[in-house]
Amino acid sequence: MNKDNETFGIKAISNTIKERKFPEMLNENIVENVRKFHLSIEGYRVTPLVCLDGLAKELGVSKVSVKDESYRFGLNAFKSLGGTFAIAKVICEKLGIDLNHVNFDYLKSEDVQKKIEGMVFVTATDGNHGRGVAWAATQLGCKSVVYLPKGAAQRRVEAIREAGAQVEVTDLNYDDAVRLASKKGEENGWYLVQDTAWEGYEKIPNWITQGYTTMADEALEQLKSDGIQKPTHVFLQAGVGSMAGAVLGYYVNKFKGKYPITIIVEPEKAACIYKSALSGDGKPHFVTGELDTIMAGLACGEPNPVTWEILRDFANTYVSCPDYVSARGTRILANPIGNDKKIISGESGSVGIGLLSILMEKTELKELKNSLGLNEESVVLFFNTEGDTDPENYKKIVYDGKYPSIFNEY
Ligand SMILES: Cc1ncc(COP(=O)(O)O)c(C=O)c1O
Repeated sequence: MNKDNETFGIKAISNTIKERKFPEMLNENIVENVRKFHLSIEGYRVTPLVCLDGLAKELGVSKVSVKDESYRFGLNAFKSLGGTFAIAKVICEKLGIDLNHVNFDYLKSEDVQKKIEGMVFVTATDGNHGRGVAWAATQLGCKSVVYLPKGAAQRRVEAIREAGAQVEVTDLNYDDAVRLASKKGEENGWYLVQDTAWEGYEKIPNWITQGYTTMADEALEQLKSDGIQKPTHVFLQAGVGSMAGAVLGYYVNKFKGKYPITIIVEPEKAACIYKSALSGDGKPHFVTGELDTIMAGLACGEPNPVTWEILRDFANTYVSCPDYVSARGTRILANPIGNDKKIISGESGSVGIGLLSILMEKTELKELKNSLGLNEESVVLFFNTEGDTDPENYKKIVYDGKYPSIFNEY
């Protein structure tokens, strides 16, 4: 399928790119060093990879594995992987040392603390990235300032404050909040640690992207211990696309030409990667306006231009989904089948599972399912990138069945 095609509000476009740029910044050496750094952080644990055999049988695939990042550093989301690595790199750069030769404890040492006293980190966030930055800055004795877009959930705001940041909820959307954080950083001499790049601001976002690879690497190791060398399919949800680019870019490095079929999933109101793929000109394209979706972590209208190139060159298919797809995924993971384990998955973590369930169930989507080669032999990997970071909305979805799967309306 290589045209804009819509069924039940789900739109998909497949990749038709001919030339590819190899993602060298996510090579195996770098991933190993990132992992070594994370290992040195007190409280680091490998997050669970949950195999949902009951669900796999129900859906008609061989395996469904969910990497549950709600357990990451007790912060309920994967994002701190990027924030910690980037902040550590910024500090090392300032001190003129190589992060590969030191560890997190060294950065917390009195000697270093004296040298970095007064450093302030600033960022904009829907919630999860800001919490990670605040947590890392506090651990290292530094201050942080975090800007949130309008409508940010109360619990997400509180969680960032509790992690030690000065927090301001703006009346801007995510992309404009990023511009504000950048401006404030320049005015005040603060270090901008943003999870997306733009021309002239790539180094720190690239470190953040590299930081995310730890979860991708852990997942492969965990699959291996289950006797699986690699998944056949990976569903990756995208906001600006840094996380998806990190995972896919690393798997391209790891598996060379034989990397898994990768599906990029976005909310329809903020589907900037989908829009960019649809344009066919190879360039990133923006979605502007309200970016109104329950998937707050994915409510980003401007792709990270660095990771966009990875998604453009190596993803198989780009899918735009209405909110009900994510709500369905949340409910599926909250209601395990047979001996499956329950997973608490927030709105930005569950959309991939919701999509797989619809693809496997609805004959109207057979063409897309077949084009992806999804069948009883498929081994499918997901990243549950957050738990119930907005517990009120989580409850509405699970208790009240809010955002139902209203197939008739389409
Ligand atoms: C829970 C969650 N999942 C996925 C993402 C998407 O990450 P990216 O913006 O790098 O695409 C985010 C981003 O904030 C998030 O918070």
